[in-house]
Amino acid sequence: MSWLIAGCGDLGTEVGLRAAAAGHVVHGLRRSAHLLPPAIRPIAGDLGGDLPELPTDVEVVILTAAADRRDVDAYRRAYVDGPGRVLDALADAGVSPRRVLFVGSTAVYGVTDGSWVDETTPTEPATATGAVLVEAERTLWNRRPDAISLRLAGVYGPGRTRLLDQVRQGRAVVPDPPVHTNRIHRDDAAAAIVHLVSAVEKPATCYLGVDDDPAERGEVLRFLAAQLDAPPPPTGPDERSRGGDKRCRNDRLRATGATFTYPTFREGYRALLDGVGARHP
Ligand SMILES: NC(=O)c1ccc[n+]([C@@H]2O[C@H](COP(=O)([O-])OP(=O)(O)OC[C@H]3O[C@@H](n4cnc5c(N)ncnc54)[C@H](OP(=O)(O)O)[C@@H]3O)[C@@H](O)[C@H]2O)c1
Repeated sequence: MSWLIAGCGDLGTEVGLRAAAAGHVVHGLRRSAHLLPPAIRPIAGDLGGDLPELPTDVEVVILTAAADRRDVDAYRRAYVDGPGRVLDALADAGVSPRRVLFVGSTAVYGVTDGSWVDETTPTEPATATGAVLVEAERTLWNRRPDAISLRLAGVYGPGRTRLLDQVRQGRAVVPDPPVHTNRIHRDDAAAAIVHLVSAVEKPATCYLGVDDDPAERGEVLRFLAAQLDAPPPPTGPDERSRGGDKRCRNDRLRATGATFTYPTFREGYRALLDGVGARHP
């Protein structure tokens, strides 16, 4: 029996490496399949077209393709149509996987007042792309009512140094009024995916994938500045912080026994600054 990771990029590869280390046969599907590490069997394919023949012993499917652009058409291709094609291709081959997990996003919530959000909060996205992510989940659940959506917050980790770069280059601004931010380290996201599909007997259909600390953006920026010995960022209006303001809870994920190597941004960014981990191409 094997795992299929469709859209096997940075996060998918980390999932695949962990699954392979646990003894599973792992297939990674992406257009540039030659970039996959040896532990993951490459399947070169484009989720936007006819798929190549898929393995017939797939028991776990992880859907981790990312949209090429931040627009509705690209989102629909990556999050609605792509997963549909994968499930069609498996069904055509007579394969009915035991677990299907879709990597979703906390962008399905349109909360703007800093209140707490969990899996029971209504999905009322504030953006057109967020609406496609809601459509993606509904389309998947119509087909596989037991599919799991892991709604990730901002993923950071090796190679994802946007916030660090802003602080280093003096471009960071502590937003006024303050906003909360939610994030998860890539390795904890990968660990949560492996855990949900392999160690949880009766998973729920939806989990928030966030760490323990939905901190104010200013607190994160000041922490990074201190770590980098950079001047504290100025306070002011910040375009980048316009939009959502929510605090995501991970209680449901935690209740499954999921653990975090980096429970807050402090441990995660310290590890990044120490050079822990590698970005997968
Ligand atoms: N980054 C965040 O903050 C964040 C937040 C919430 C959720 N997520 C979700 O997390 C998931 C994984 O993200 P990631 O960081 O691992 O992204 P990533 O490194 O860009 O990986 C996604 C992979 O999808 C593959 N892909 C894209 N279009 C494809 C297509 N048409 N056919 C086949 N493969 C395709 C790409 O490989 P090829 O180019 O080789 O095809 C790419 O390597 C995505 O679903 C993303 O939406 C991310």
